Amino acid sequence: MTDLTLRHGLWSSRLAFVLAASGSAIGLGNIWKFPYLAGDNGGGAFVLVYLLCVVAIGIPIMMAETLLGRRGRQSPINTLRTLAAEAGAGGFWQGAGWLAVLAGFLILSYYSVIAGWAMAYILKVGGGFLNQSDAAAVRTAFLELKASPDLQVIWHTLFMLATLLIVGRGINDGIERATRIMMPALLLMLVLLDAYAMTTGSFQRGLAFLFQPDFSRLGGGSLLTAMGQAFFSLGLGMGSIMVYGAYLPDRASIAQSAWAVTLADTAVALAAGIAIFPIVFANGMEPTLGPGLIFETLPVAFAHMPGGALFGAVFFALVVLAALTSAIALIEPTIAYLSENRGLTRPEACLRAGLVCWLLGLGTVFSFNLWANRTWFGKNFFELIDFLTADLMLPVGGILVALFAGWVVESQVSEAELGSGRGYRLWRVTIRYLAPGAVGLVFLRAIGAI
Ligand code: PFF
Repeated sequence: MTDLTLRHGLWSSRLAFVLAASGSAIGLGNIWKFPYLAGDNGGGAFVLVYLLCVVAIGIPIMMAETLLGRRGRQSPINTLRTLAAEAGAGGFWQGAGWLAVLAGFLILSYYSVIAGWAMAYILKVGGGFLNQSDAAAVRTAFLELKASPDLQVIWHTLFMLATLLIVGRGINDGIERATRIMMPALLLMLVLLDAYAMTTGSFQRGLAFLFQPDFSRLGGGSLLTAMGQAFFSLGLGMGSIMVYGAYLPDRASIAQSAWAVTLADTAVALAAGIAIFPIVFANGMEPTLGPGLIFETLPVAFAHMPGGALFGAVFFALVVLAALTSAIALIEPTIAYLSENRGLTRPEACLRAGLVCWLLGLGTVFSFNLWANRTWFGKNFFELIDFLTADLMLPVGGILVALFAGWVVESQVSEAELGSGRGYRLWRVTIRYLAPGAVGLVFLRAIGAI
């Protein structure tokens, strides 16, 4: 092992990497966003386009991030600095690392607040508080939670602490051990919920909503929506996969790992839809936009179903676990950087970064109550951070990673990491032309330039 691999440690196996990276990929994006988007954009037609984006753009960029990480063996900032210097390129590329690290950090600040809502719901739904409730009462309960800074701050604090406790323990004792337990637990819960939906829900109708291809509802914007979702869901462009790649043992196959992670992420997104829609339809409810679906619609459905309190609690525990393994990945690039450049131990780095991230999260909490009327560029604090990260930083980060891996890193280097052959040649063409071109399109569309 070199000094660099010793500094942070390595995953104990390729499986450990696949589990941790799948944990990063599988998150809130899979459980509430994907099912809704699919339902609203032509069901099976959207799923097809989404799969195309994932395979044609997602996998090549995931491979690029992993190979850069493994080659650089440091936080994204230092990895890009080192590799750019090696290739004789300018210091500009280090900026791409900064962008990625900052994006992950900002996303975590609001991700933690939303995951906190899910924590609150484990108790609310499991404790039967919402039992017998009609839709209006459940909606009021959700609004009350959003209106209460105190409650949200408590849950946000707990979620952040759980994240930091895991990350603070390091790669093997912390992240690897946690994902080794949490990922199978998550899978088990999902299978359980699918079975529940199968027996008590309107299974046929749910499946039809999700999978029946309706090409007339597949609008021009759907392609771009599918691509943006593929990016967010796979967790690309935020340095997480790059820093996880930095801990990947030398001989593990990057292509196989990327396929495994992508398959797991896609399977969970589909399985979440298969669990959610039959339950929604069984209660004569409509699938609604965004977070409302799981916090306003689903609890009503669970309240009316046999064993609903238990299965509702299981559902929200699933959301929390999925969010937790993503949160770990969102802050790891920052922690790696602080321990490399500021000489901090991991627990110290966690304490400082966690505090700043927690403070930023208060902005999201307040945007639903105390600061509800404060706007910047027409957006409240939460919307601003979401826009900055998901619509701006993430696609730019993705394009830069693709350009760096395709044009700056020498082909001998990428070939040594990925292995030669037809697969490699295909990857190289994709990463040089198709990926930056396609993601560039998403970006221009997001900022309203096209
Ligand atoms: N992929 C996560 C989701 O679908 O919710 C979000 C995410 C996690 C993005 C970790 C980026 C990341 F580094």
